[in-house]
Amino acid sequence: PTVLLLNGPNLNMLGTRQPEVYGTATLADAVAVAERAARDVGVELTARQTNHEGQMIDWVHEARGTVAGIVVNPGGWTHTSVALADALVIPEVPVVEVHLSNVAAREPFRHHSYVSPIATAVIAGCGILGYDFAIRTLAERLSNR
Ligand code: DQA
Repeated sequence: PTVLLLNGPNLNMLGTRQPEVYGTATLADAVAVAERAARDVGVELTARQTNHEGQMIDWVHEARGTVAGIVVNPGGWTHTSVALADALVIPEVPVVEVHLSNVAAREPFRHHSYVSPIATAVIAGCGILGYDFAIRTLAERLSNR
């Protein structure tokens, strides 16, 4: 099975972006963690990042019928985008939501997620290790179906 890893806006700047909040690891490091986990559990990984909401939504549409599950860090769209949350149900596959930081411990506007109600799991505050957990819990769900 193929799992799609989607990273949203500003995550291409990981490593230099607010390291006190997000750590010093880069997006490439985060993707490498996910790739290692995918290899361990025997799933194919396709990893993408964009700063453009429409591009992200197009990728989610293309996932329908082609991928078994989605891991997504929606970045700021977590808290703003009904459109992305609407798109994420279209492929009809399990979605795991990941945040590097513990969004519940941050500003109130980060406490609400449009994605969490449609996610099968939410991982926050584990840094890039969250991508490892996300792949593993998704693979577990896929093997139990
Ligand atoms: C984030 C948390 C969001 O609130 C923020 O807008 C991000 C990154 C995280 O990974 O901790 O861009 O999704």
